[in-house]
Amino acid sequence: MSSMRGRWAWIVGWGLWTSAGGCGDPSSPPPATGTEGTSSTGATEAGTSGPSADDTSTGSVSEPDVTYHGDVRAVLERHCVTCHQPDAVAPFPLTTYEEAHALRESLVLSVEAGTMPPWMPGDGCQDYLGEPEFTDEERQLLRAWLDEGAAQGDPADYVPPTIPDPPGLSRVDLTLAMPEPYLPSQMPDDYRCFLLPWPEVETRYVTGFAALPDDLRTVHHMIAYAIAPDRVAQYEALDEADPEPGYTCFGGPGGPITSPQSAGTWLGAWAPGGITGDFPEGTGIAMEPGSRVVLQIHYNTLVGDLRPDGSAVQLRIDAEVERPAFSMLWADPAWLAGGMPIPAGEAQVVHSFELDPTQFMNLLTDVIPAGTPFQIHSASHHMHKLGTRAQQEILRGDGSRECLLELPQWDFDWQQAYRLADPVRFDPGDRLRLACEWNNEAGDQHVNWGDGTQDEMCLGVYYVTAL
Ligand code: HEC
Repeated sequence: MSSMRGRWAWIVGWGLWTSAGGCGDPSSPPPATGTEGTSSTGATEAGTSGPSADDTSTGSVSEPDVTYHGDVRAVLERHCVTCHQPDAVAPFPLTTYEEAHALRESLVLSVEAGTMPPWMPGDGCQDYLGEPEFTDEERQLLRAWLDEGAAQGDPADYVPPTIPDPPGLSRVDLTLAMPEPYLPSQMPDDYRCFLLPWPEVETRYVTGFAALPDDLRTVHHMIAYAIAPDRVAQYEALDEADPEPGYTCFGGPGGPITSPQSAGTWLGAWAPGGITGDFPEGTGIAMEPGSRVVLQIHYNTLVGDLRPDGSAVQLRIDAEVERPAFSMLWADPAWLAGGMPIPAGEAQVVHSFELDPTQFMNLLTDVIPAGTPFQIHSASHHMHKLGTRAQQEILRGDGSRECLLELPQWDFDWQQAYRLADPVRFDPGDRLRLACEWNNEAGDQHVNWGDGTQDEMCLGVYYVTAL
């Protein structure tokens, strides 16, 4: 197959990982949680007044202008039904008039509140690839449909939407499947790691990542980690100690975390609606012979009948790349030594960290020399269940700030890597700042850094290359 690598420079695949939470900038109060705008177009009871004429548009007085088949169906197919269909991640389908009509109010409100389609980053920070392009026009259409009585209309008026193909991988060189199907059993969530082979016998670069989730009802996210040869034995021991396929893991691939970097190299990640595919053109993550891949899967198990899952990942692999990439994990090393206390009973706990990594880059990676500028291509964030807000930014040497990622409402279920539409340059003298906020008000345990479900983390993950 011919190479189409230039065609899609999407990177995203590598970074959808699983953490939760969102910490916001601790120096500013948390924004209200996304409910603005719901009343801007009038009360929903208007919908019961039937086919009233709408304001200024042409409208016939007796027939609603906006109907399901004429307008709404295409909007839902464009933005909603990938998840809202039978056997997919959303709890109910939106594929017929009856289904949409039954949920018409909450459907419109969720769109106006900005909670659907799901998209976690706050506005005004950065542009990312894969952001849902929901237009004001579409929003107004849904509102008008509701206000005019949510009519069905004539199926003959239906015009199928144009839905661009998801970018995907330009080439699949290796498919890594779970060694055997796994039946999730922990309720309501099962976090499981599977040790996958790495068959290459020379140094190779992973240049793209895609996920093949099997049971779309239960698989809520997948993250692939590269395990270097000298750490493989630790992971084999974890795998062998558990009689079922794989082993339990939560905040990472499972091995001991002695430094932020040892929390694992992210190869790629997927969550529903997330984009995966080729990494930025000319870049890739090196894998040595003798490495393994750990695939972490978060199963949501409250779906009724559970069935065995056999998910897999696909990788694009190249022998050489122009600019080797590095998955940089960012956290205060002091946090790992118990320096990230989140006391029981406290509602707003913030920890932040800022530092210029360029001076010691040689300790983190050999793909970017110390003291040189580098490029950030994507940003991800990881916390656990107590997280509420997150912020990542660059404090420039000249005193200005550049936001990288802001998550005003952290949600553990919707972790992914956010591929920057334009890579961001980081210069020596800049500082990379990470801030996390948690709510432990209801807790009776003091919480600190760790990779278990009762622990917390505050981690920025960046796909970076030399300039
Ligand atoms: C990426 C997958 C995805 C897409 C796309 C998506 N949804 Fe959802 N939706 C979900 C999931 C999953 C839930 C269950 C609650 C949760 O996990 O957040 C949900 C819940 C809902 C709910 C229940 C109330 C709420 O807000 O949680 C409504 C209403 C809804 N979706 C409407 C929509 C509409 C309308 C669209 C399209 C404009 C849409 N969704 C697009 C995944 C999706």
